[in-house]
Order: sequence, then C-alpha cells, then structure tokens
Amino acid sequence: MVPEKRDGRRSPGDAVPEAIHTRLTEMFDLRYPIIGAPMFLVSYEELAIAVSEAGGLGTLPLPNYREIAELKNALSAIRRSTDRPIGVNIHLSGKFPWKKQLTACLDAGVGFFITSLGDPRLIISDVHASGGKVFPDVVDLRQGIKSREGGADGLVAVGAGAGGHGGNIPIPVLVPYLIEKTGLPVVAAGGISTGRQMAAALALGACGVIVGTRLIATPEARARSAYKASVIASGPEDIVFSDRITGNKANWIRESVDRVAQSPDLGSKKWLDIWSAGQSVAQVEAITPAGEIIREMARTCRETCAALQRAMG
Ligand SMILES: Cc1cc2nc3c(=O)[nH]c(=O)nc-3n(C[C@H](O)[C@H](O)[C@H](O)COP(=O)(O)O)c2cc1C
Repeated sequence: MVPEKRDGRRSPGDAVPEAIHTRLTEMFDLRYPIIGAPMFLVSYEELAIAVSEAGGLGTLPLPNYREIAELKNALSAIRRSTDRPIGVNIHLSGKFPWKKQLTACLDAGVGFFITSLGDPRLIISDVHASGGKVFPDVVDLRQGIKSREGGADGLVAVGAGAGGHGGNIPIPVLVPYLIEKTGLPVVAAGGISTGRQMAAALALGACGVIVGTRLIATPEARARSAYKASVIASGPEDIVFSDRITGNKANWIRESVDRVAQSPDLGSKKWLDIWSAGQSVAQVEAITPAGEIIREMARTCRETCAALQRAMG
C-alpha cells in the first residue's frame, strides 16, 4: 500500500517558509528558486498550478498537447487558477508545431521557456520581444557555449542521474563548470528531491533547481498509480541509463523496461508502460501534495544553510 497524503491543505507543520532570493527568483518574481520539471505524460495543468501557487515555477512540456486547441485550453485553465508565473518546455526538433505553440504560449503570457532538441535561436528573439527568458537544456559545455552564443538567458544543467533524457556529468561538476565557462545563470536539474540537495545545488552556484522525479509521486501528477508506487519503491540501483528506448540516453525504472521487453507488441501504448525516473527516487517515500513538497524543500534548504553558517562560527 502506497503511503498517501491526499489533502492539499497545510498541516500545522507545513507553515510557509521565508522567501529565498536568487537571480532566478528575481527574474520571475518567485518566492523560491524551485522549478517543477516539465515531464512528458506526467506534468499537466494541475501540477504546474500547484507548484506556482506554492511559490515555485510550474511548467508544462508542450508535447503533452497534441493539438494547439488543447494547449490553449490548458493555458487558459492555468490562468483561471493562478496569476503566478509559469513556464513551458518547447521541443524544437521540428517534430512538433513549435511556431504555433510559441504564439499560443506568448499570447497566454508564458515568460519562461526551456528548450530541448533543436536550436534555441529559433525562438529567442520572439521570446525576448515579449519580455520572456529562454533556458536551453544542456548536458555539456559544447551545448552550453552554443546556447550562450545563440543569446540564451540561462542554462538548465541536466546532470547525471536526472529523470528523462540526460547526460553523464554529475551536478557538482557540471554546474560550476557551466557557470565558470559561460557566465550564464545555471539551474541545476538531476538528483534534487530534498531541501538538503537544493542547498547543495545553491552552494555550487546554481540560481535554482528543477525537481522532476520527486513530483511524480504527487496527487497532481498524471502518472498512473502503479508508476507512482514504483517511484516510491525503487532505489537508485533500480534506475537504468539507456538509449535503447528512444535512441537518446535517458533514465528508466528497470522494472518497467523489463516488463515491456517481455511484451514486445505494446505498440504506441508502450509510453504509458515504460516509466522514466531519476536516481533521486532514493529520496521519494510517499505521495505528497506538490505544494507541500515545495514548502518542505524551501524550509529544509533554509535550515541546512543556517546550520552550515553556525558551523562556520
Ligand atoms: C517522466 C519524466 C519525463 C520528462 N520529460 C521531459 C520533457 O518532456 N521535457 C524536458 O525538458 N524534460 C523532461 N524531463 C526532465 C525533467 O524536466 C528534469 O530535467 C529532470 O526530471 C530533473 O531531474 P530529477 O528527475 O532527478 O529531478 C522528464 C523527466 C521525467 C522524470
């Protein structure tokens, strides 16, 4: 039985922590430098709203919306529920109608764009003209330099062990490397599920963190309940880094890959049965409302930094 806390109301121990100030929070007027990850087939309106309402920055992956009308409906639903900022992940490979998606997002006031699979220059001038910012996903310095030369405002450093597609350089190496060599603000993505891990990322110089894996185990995520249970039950040893599923290296829960390998005729439905998650499944222990996770991370991050400061005398 999966431990679950369904009630989104704040419990007595879930008070609102004080704000944390970084370049990211200044850019987007956030209370905390925590971005709810765009996750294909997992993060939709409910999760983005919950993260943004809690003081973080909720995002949507645009490939979740096959039709532009669906995307427009989702953006309107978000606007009816929150006036806090939200972001999107836009795929620029050419497989999706990115121009129409971009227009719909800009019309809805989206100001934060994470780009993946394609040239961020395709959207940068339009986003800047609307006052927005573009942070490409990067896994190494070559992609970081290319993004800077294209005019990106910052980078999402996708480190080893991240859920979804990723690279193999760990966050403690990748974040300071990209900051030093590109001079851009860097958000850390990969292996950050707790406030202590967040404090470590900020200590590395990151201006914020992206939380993916932990937010799969929330009532707001549209993952199947067996998927949520598997995220909770898995340890980092159960995560496999493989390019056999999509052609690009990504992290998967081994159990789901093995099961699908044994039933090769699942066809397009396989995406619902192959589950991506990162190594920080290690820190996911219950289904918890997203807002509570954001507040808990902010609180523990502040406590960790205060304890370190005391240790320094
Ligand atoms: C199930 C899943 C789906 C994802 N889909 C996307 C996606 O569509 N676009 C994207 O930019 N990143 C995607 N990611 C990566 C996340 O945005 C984020 O960078 C990553 O989850 C951070 O690492 P963590 O899982 O260790 O927290 C996905 C991650 C997961 C777990």
